[in-house]
Amino acid sequence: MSNLDSNPPSFKPFSLIAEVTHRCPLHCLYCSNPLEMQRTEKELATEDWVRVFQQAARLGVLHLHLTGGEPLARKDLPDLIVAARQAGLYVNMITSGVGLTEERLALLVQSGLEHLQLSFQDIDEASANHIAGTRAHALKLALVPVLKRFPLAFTVNLVVHRMNLDRLESFITLAEELNPDRLEIAHVQYYGWALKNRSLLMPTQEQVDRSIPIVEAARQRLKGKIHLEAVFPDYYASFPKACVGGWGRQMMLIDPAGQAMPCHAAAVIPGLHFDNVREHDLAWIWSSSSAFNRFRGDAWMPETCLSCARKEKDFGGCRCQAYLLTGDAEAIDPVCGYSPQHRLLQHLRSSAPEVLPIWRQ
Ligand code: FES
Repeated sequence: MSNLDSNPPSFKPFSLIAEVTHRCPLHCLYCSNPLEMQRTEKELATEDWVRVFQQAARLGVLHLHLTGGEPLARKDLPDLIVAARQAGLYVNMITSGVGLTEERLALLVQSGLEHLQLSFQDIDEASANHIAGTRAHALKLALVPVLKRFPLAFTVNLVVHRMNLDRLESFITLAEELNPDRLEIAHVQYYGWALKNRSLLMPTQEQVDRSIPIVEAARQRLKGKIHLEAVFPDYYASFPKACVGGWGRQMMLIDPAGQAMPCHAAAVIPGLHFDNVREHDLAWIWSSSSAFNRFRGDAWMPETCLSCARKEKDFGGCRCQAYLLTGDAEAIDPVCGYSPQHRLLQHLRSSAPEVLPIWRQ
């Protein structure tokens, strides 16, 4: 289904997520990368990314998020940053920090890097390393004073779930001590490896209830000092999130092999074809790619969503989640209380952990 093939969309993407590689020194239990990752030999070359950044800027993209995997695994990272800045993009890097020396960071900043996001897995070192599947916690802590020496905006991302939510208060204290510009408290979302580990990672109702006043107190305490954003645990919500700001409305994701996608999990939906930046201009992909048009607008929506006033707020929720939970990508997102499958979530929330940890490969 495509409701826009002959009419270019009136909205433009303002952010581009560039998964420059799927290689990563971390093996996080909650990684949202696909289970079938792109191999190194399939990765786009430097000149492909340079072209993509130029096309993105012409299309109206403002923010570039360099991510992966671990972007530091790319030897040409400084060249990519230079190219993105020359195209006029604001450059953020989402990194594990593993392997980021002061010398290398200086080169990245000199190349034009403007923002860096570092995620932490726990306050407790043994647990943090267990969740990350490698000894990274101490390295991350040691990196922070180094990066504070550079003119870089800095976000700390705390990834929370059943295994660490009881330590949220001290986890936030750790983040405050690191003195970031922004603090994100993000509940795990169940895609990729996180979906495999869902029963281990799903917080209990009690944990969620206890966490809400802790986050609120931090929000008040940090007002004017550190900007705090907290993502509510999706499976505990009554209404779905406006996933990626609406399908094909605000952002594009390019995977390491050049496939252009409307979101990071879109490959789970059967039958979608992803056009490749090796063959098509980004402007063409944005307006004409069948994958971007598949759930754009409201023509695909079931009647309940179509007649709901919230459709302008959540744009029908998350299509990948609807598919993963119901087997139907056109179904009402089960997070929504109006979904006949909403009770699925009640079952998942109250289930005991039933799998052993499966680390990202
Ligand atoms: Fe694909 Fe939400 S992750 S639409």
